[in-house]
Amino acid sequence: MDTASLANLIKSRRSIRRWQDKQVPEHLLVEAVDLATWASNAGNFQNWRFYIILNEKMRNAITDAVQASADKVASWPEAKKYGADAERWRQQVGFMRSAPAMIAVAVGEYQGLADKILAEREKHDPEARIMRESRTLPAPRIQSAAAAIAYLILVLQQMGLGTVWMTGPAQAKPEIEKILGVPSGLDFVALIPVGYPAETPKGQRKPVNEVCQIIR
Ligand SMILES: Cc1cc2nc3c(=O)[nH]c(=O)nc-3n(C[C@H](O)[C@H](O)[C@H](O)COP(=O)(O)O)c2cc1C
Repeated sequence: MDTASLANLIKSRRSIRRWQDKQVPEHLLVEAVDLATWASNAGNFQNWRFYIILNEKMRNAITDAVQASADKVASWPEAKKYGADAERWRQQVGFMRSAPAMIAVAVGEYQGLADKILAEREKHDPEARIMRESRTLPAPRIQSAAAAIAYLILVLQQMGLGTVWMTGPAQAKPEIEKILGVPSGLDFVALIPVGYPAETPKGQRKPVNEVCQIIR
């Protein structure tokens, strides 16, 4: 693949929130997850798990849990104070229901060798504590999952499928983990509804010179 084709793939991907009423072949989703696992990841621990959810009952249960959680927040006086529009809030979640498939991502703990050394040392050395905290801040396990998800949505785009990478559903984390049977030690971090797109949203990005500094 030349750079122009790759650029076209990257730039033509948009978050999709409306899908055709058409099943997604299981083998495509498995292939996409397989390719996603080739992403760079901290320590090559690969301590992630991908749940391909084809079961409609389970998808509805997840959407219900996210909806209930969103409704609860919308009903709080704080939501009124900040001008949250309850109906708009509902729509922001409701679109998930029409997705013919979902992929949920969970990640396990990451503790590299340096983290273990620093955790022990920090008991009596404040410098080690600062080092350990500085290493924790970039959240390597989350960055690893994000790298895989970035691959995943691009591969699915190449397959003609539309996705939306969602972390909002994490608000209903306990309920979703229960529905999926996520084992303890793993944390649900993202949900990716998938289907054949029924919309073509326009993309928009800041010019690269606004976000990039060249240090010569
Ligand atoms: C980490 C992350 C979390 C996101 N969470 C949500 C979400 O909860 N709900 C949603 O509708 N979109 C979510 N999105 C999609 C973004 O809104 C979208 O990527 C952004 O507006 C840029 O649009 P584009 O993907 O079409 O380029 C998320 C994206 C990322 C990377």
